[in-house]
Amino acid sequence: MASTVIKNWDNKTWLSSKDYIESFNKFLTKKVKLNPKSKILDIGCGRGKIIGNLSSQLMLKNKPLGIDLTHHQDKDKRIKFKRVDALSFLLKNKKKFDLILIKQTIHLLNFNKIKKLLNLSKKSLSQNGKILIFSLDTDNNNIPTFKLMKTKLLKSLKRDKKIIKLITKLYPYKKSRFIFRVKILREKYLQMIQKRYISTLLPMTKSQIRKGIDEIKYRYKRNIKFRDKLICLTL
Ligand SMILES: C[S@@+](CC[C@H](N)C(=O)[O-])C[C@H]1O[C@@H](n2cnc3c(N)ncnc32)[C@H](O)[C@@H]1O
Repeated sequence: MASTVIKNWDNKTWLSSKDYIESFNKFLTKKVKLNPKSKILDIGCGRGKIIGNLSSQLMLKNKPLGIDLTHHQDKDKRIKFKRVDALSFLLKNKKKFDLILIKQTIHLLNFNKIKKLLNLSKKSLSQNGKILIFSLDTDNNNIPTFKLMKTKLLKSLKRDKKIIKLITKLYPYKKSRFIFRVKILREKYLQMIQKRYISTLLPMTKSQIRKGIDEIKYRYKRNIKFRDKLICLTL
């Protein structure tokens, strides 16, 4: 049976590389002014490597808080972690944050929950606090895919567009793009596919994944190069 939780998203992939995390945080610190006293919340933090790195870089006095439904043994030691659903946490939360990061997580919620999540996040911001939402770029996305994966990804990106439309109606925001040039061995990428690193792969059967792997072997060269593009909304 296909696994239903995202466990391998940042498990030794480019998304957990020093290069990626440093260039991501360079981008992030241009979007929001932070200092050693800043309080940071990461919703759907995964292993928490991004805010862990941010904590060292900014020499944060308070450990940043990462919340996620999944608990990883190898999560970052520099963060405070809570295994909790985002809405349940925000409903009870009384703290104010200078940054609430929601990176590649919002698409996993239904529209009703997204509305509630944003409303509660807004209430949890300090006076100059910001919410940063990162989501796959819905246009010209060039993540390496096989046929079925592409169909599913396009469907999911269509839904992402609707999410952005919904946010547009609710809050004013600034839109920008974070682009990271990925160089990865095809073999390594195939391992990521095998481990279902992205949510579009989660519901696929073993044989669909096997077929997909054969397609990628045929379609891509030994070294795969592409641009991982994210939209950033600053609220
Ligand atoms: C694609 S991963 C992104 C991880 C990390 N933000 C990053 O960009 O590297 C999405 C994460 O959101 C978490 N997640 C999904 N729904 C959630 C919810 N309702 N509350 C908290 N975390 C959630 C998943 O467990 C997963 O770790």
